[in-house]
Amino acid sequence: MSKIKFHSGENVPLEMHKVRIVQKLNLPPVEDRLKAMEEAGYNTFLLKNRDVFMDMLTDSGVNAMSDKQQAAMLEADDSYAGSETFTKLENKIKEIFGTEYFLPTHQGRACENIISQSFVKPGTIVPMNYHFTTTKAHIVLNGGRIEEIFIDEALNLTSDNPFKGNMDLDKLRDLIETSGADKIAFVRLEAGTNLIGGQPFAVENMQQVRKVCDEFGLMLILDASLLADNLYFIKEREEQCKEMTVREITRTIADLADIIYFSARKLGNARGGGICTNNRDVYMKMREYITLYEGFLTYGGMSVREMEAITVGLEETMDEEMINQGPQFISFMTEELIKKGVPVVTPAGGLGCHINAMEFVDHIPQSAYPAGALAAALYIVSGIRGMERGTLSEQRDEEGNETLSHMELLRLAMPRRVFTLSQVKYAVDRIAWLYENRKLIGGLEFTEEPSVLRFFFGKLTTSTDWQNKLVAKFKADFGDSL
Ligand code: F0G
Repeated sequence: MSKIKFHSGENVPLEMHKVRIVQKLNLPPVEDRLKAMEEAGYNTFLLKNRDVFMDMLTDSGVNAMSDKQQAAMLEADDSYAGSETFTKLENKIKEIFGTEYFLPTHQGRACENIISQSFVKPGTIVPMNYHFTTTKAHIVLNGGRIEEIFIDEALNLTSDNPFKGNMDLDKLRDLIETSGADKIAFVRLEAGTNLIGGQPFAVENMQQVRKVCDEFGLMLILDASLLADNLYFIKEREEQCKEMTVREITRTIADLADIIYFSARKLGNARGGGICTNNRDVYMKMREYITLYEGFLTYGGMSVREMEAITVGLEETMDEEMINQGPQFISFMTEELIKKGVPVVTPAGGLGCHINAMEFVDHIPQSAYPAGALAAALYIVSGIRGMERGTLSEQRDEEGNETLSHMELLRLAMPRRVFTLSQVKYAVDRIAWLYENRKLIGGLEFTEEPSVLRFFFGKLTTSTDWQNKLVAKFKADFGDSL
């Protein structure tokens, strides 16, 4: 809820920034959108940005930077070793997380590669509140496996549980006791749990997880990529943290983890990543991989300009009026969609607005990728690019069978400070129209299916001619409107 109340009583998320640099957008006519979708193999990852009106694919690396971030980028200290820019970033991380050691990487999954290579041995298990695609891939690549120990409510799409990202402590304890603590590589907690709709964990839950880790001598690793949203929700929803500053909450969380890693494409609103710890042994173990895979220890694959932007971006993340912008826009969009009867994930989380495709297109079986089909259909009728987060984002098992996802979501990411409210209203309008015409949407099937992370570059086609019927109905209803 915005702190600024409207006299009308309306709940409007008011922007606490002004827009001074703009980028012209293009909305191609519906026939051209259909052609672009066909050329992209019904995979929104393969669309060209010039064909996209609202890019809601992700918030990764596309959040709006502030004037202060842009200014800092101009005075970056460019050197391979010992750059002043790196020292600034290292000090900012030390100040915010209270961690002594910082290893820079080019982005979040690079941290996952290094952490997995360092600590995941064949046959080990990594318990986590929920997996993320790249996280799971790196753990599996190193011979480990993941165990998701989310609370039952996590998979309830329409819930009022404020912390669906919490870990189930009994399940965690059970898993450790039955498999043996020596089989657990580490415990991973993901902030703003991505794949279940940007849902947060509570500080209280992390404190309990820490206790279990201490009891069994296990490391607790925090994926802080979506920490900004999680911080906002803790401040809003968790009683024990209401009077704390965002900085204090951050420090409380950081103190509970042995290792914190993050994608700075999300946290810090720039591009890059890093691993932070107070444990010297752990640091030394991971250090050699940085120089092997990322770059020298004072840049790790990041440009100095991006490092300057992250330093400022992290500081700005400690401002409640900054981190509230994403969640408030998402909440607005979610509420508006609920008013139109569209099935969405509740409570509204961070990252984006999540549409429940399993219900939206309940006539499409999971094997025909309902969320992927919905993403394609939405692009065709609106020029909005979302992302499938369902079975298409899973990998087949060793026998080649589909791994049916727990959820079929269409994620409409809300890059922070990028869209205006009228653009969000446009999105709501087109989604509501699509919902009324949902029976026109059909399934998809693969024409080219990569074996790893297939959702990135796999190509599909429609199972029937549904796309042309959808366009015909669009033209009948919207006339010559784009
Ligand atoms: N962890 C989480 C929770 C993420 O959301 C991501 C990226 C990563 C790790 C990997 O970071 O992209 O910098 O290598 N999520 C992006 C998304 C891709 O669109 O949700 P990365």
